[in-house]
Amino acid sequence: MVVETRDVYTIRLSAINEGRSGQFYMISVPGVGEAPISVASGFGRKIEFTIRDIGSVTARIRHSETVGIRGPYGNGWPWTDYDKIIAVAGGIGFPPVRSLLEEMVDLGRGKDLEVLYGARSPSDLVYKKMLEDWGNTLDVHITVDRVDSGWKGKVGFVPSLLEDTHLGKEAAVFIIGPPLMMMNTVKEALRLGFSEDRMYLSLERRMECGIGVCGHCNVGEFYVCEDGPIFPYSKVKESPELFL
Ligand SMILES: Cc1cc2nc3c(=O)[nH]c(=O)nc-3n(C[C@H](O)[C@H](O)[C@H](O)COP(=O)(O)OP(=O)(O)OC[C@H]3O[C@@H](n4cnc5c(N)ncnc54)[C@H](O)[C@@H]3O)c2cc1C
Ligand code: FES
Repeated sequence: MVVETRDVYTIRLSAINEGRSGQFYMISVPGVGEAPISVASGFGRKIEFTIRDIGSVTARIRHSETVGIRGPYGNGWPWTDYDKIIAVAGGIGFPPVRSLLEEMVDLGRGKDLEVLYGARSPSDLVYKKMLEDWGNTLDVHITVDRVDSGWKGKVGFVPSLLEDTHLGKEAAVFIIGPPLMMMNTVKEALRLGFSEDRMYLSLERRMECGIGVCGHCNVGEFYVCEDGPIFPYSKVKESPELFL
């Protein structure tokens, strides 16, 4: 296990990831419950999950000798449909973008991806060593909302990084993070001239079954577990609860 921040940790399993970036697994702790967690590593690598400890299941996974996993479920980022991709991640939304990055790098398409990652403060950044390594060869832009110590990088909200991207307005824009961050990223991307037809959001809802049976995870007419978690913005933009 790797301790990433005060409340985030990464676990690595011996099993190989058969999930595409953007998909999730249901992780269960015996006697406690189950939670959907995105795969954080690339397809074909060892499965990794990066988890924020916010409740009963997510607090126990790191202390459990045995966890159950089922999946992968849901769809993945539709990156093979596009020549250029800008992925914008806020907070604990970054792991599925790391998975995307690894998947694209493994298939020789790392140069077609620009990653924008925002965290609350430098101490909330995950994968600090990887961020350094990627910084040498890949386009990974980082910003923090506020500075806590010795930070020389950017300060500001992650949508502001869109202005600095160079892949062009034809790029697809993949967005994942807290609702307010996603809403502001969509607004900024539209303002800058990116097309809403090439914009995708990864949505998060409370889940029970993860397979389209229980009805817990709907957004409008869709189930996030089965129809998502990744949706074209144009498909869900009229849902009143989209950014809740
Ligand atoms: C597709 C998908 C992928 C996800 N990937 C990751 C990931 O990679 N890493 C990660 O850390 N988390 C991820 N999550 C979120 C994670 O599933 C929840 O944090 C987890 O289910 C909480 O379970 P718990 O039993 O620990 O918390 P609980 O004890 O059930 O809840 C603790 C508190 O958090 C609130 N809460 C729980 N879940 C949510 C939620 N989904 N939205 C808003 N509030 C909530 C509860 O209302 C409660 O106040 C993902 C969620 C989805 C739907
Ligand atoms: S979690 Fe049961 S329908 Fe989506």
